[in-house]
Amino acid sequence: MPTSAHALAFAPVRASQTAATPIIKWVGGKGRLLSQLAPLLPPTAEERRHVEPFIGGGAMFFARRPERALLSDVNPELIGVYKAVRDDVEGVISELSRLASAGHAAEAYYGVRTRYNAERRARASKTTQTSRAAMFVYLNKTCFNGLHRVNRSGEFNVPAGKYKNPRILDAENLRAASAALANADLRCAGFEELLGSARPGDFIYLDPPYVPASTTANFTAYAQDGFGPADQERLRDVYRELDRRGCRLMLSNSDVPAVRELYREWRIDVVMAPRAVSCDGAGRQSVAEVVVRNY
Ligand SMILES: C[S@@+](CC[C@H](N)C(=O)[O-])C[C@H]1O[C@@H](n2cnc3c(N)ncnc32)[C@H](O)[C@@H]1O
Repeated sequence: MPTSAHALAFAPVRASQTAATPIIKWVGGKGRLLSQLAPLLPPTAEERRHVEPFIGGGAMFFARRPERALLSDVNPELIGVYKAVRDDVEGVISELSRLASAGHAAEAYYGVRTRYNAERRARASKTTQTSRAAMFVYLNKTCFNGLHRVNRSGEFNVPAGKYKNPRILDAENLRAASAALANADLRCAGFEELLGSARPGDFIYLDPPYVPASTTANFTAYAQDGFGPADQERLRDVYRELDRRGCRLMLSNSDVPAVRELYREWRIDVVMAPRAVSCDGAGRQSVAEVVVRNY
């Protein structure tokens, strides 16, 4: 049975599998847009390898649950979480259950955060990967707004969130996510490395850090998540090369003149993304996003 409304937006490729939803909260997550993105997939998407070079929370991947997938992100901790959930989901569940039983009060939160940062340089092994993944999920579910932010030395520094009763452990969804990831090739890489592994016929969904919505056609002065104008241009060049190679491409970004200019050779559709506009979440409005396709 699907576990959320957005899981219903897609006919999953492996319908026999239990539906999975993202196992972490992630800024820019596509959960709320899936029903608008689903009709824009290529008609033969289910026959193609699913490639996502900016996997983040993986909303589209988990909704589709493709047979074959190549997933990557530049964030090594995030890719470590997916590897642990794919390879040792019962270990992650038991570790997370232990952490969850200590609660989410500030004292418990900062205790886990300190250990997580202290163990950062520990030698990678299956155990450390499993326990780091559990700590990552715990911190993600209990930190302020589900943010992921690190300081210059790479230490996670988000303060505790104010939740009454956050759902820290969802064992059923972790198992479903593990099944969805079972055949996935997971890599920690920058998006340009796609050029080394994308093949003709792949379906590639690109969901990079967005150009800020306030940007005008002259977009020299912004950078979001360290992803600046030069990165957006390099991404467009990669898009062009993948297009030449015969991949089916779908890319999301904000609907601003700079993005329309970068992708003017291709087909552009608009979807409306719900956005919280006040701190208490009371006010909401929609923001236009583009979907650029080469098919
Ligand atoms: C908008 S988020 C993707 C959200 C995702 N579609 C979801 O549903 O949660 C962008 C992702 O790009 C990653 N990223 C940033 N710079 C990158 C780069 N140069 N190469 C690959 N990934 C990058 C970030 O770590 C982040 O996870």
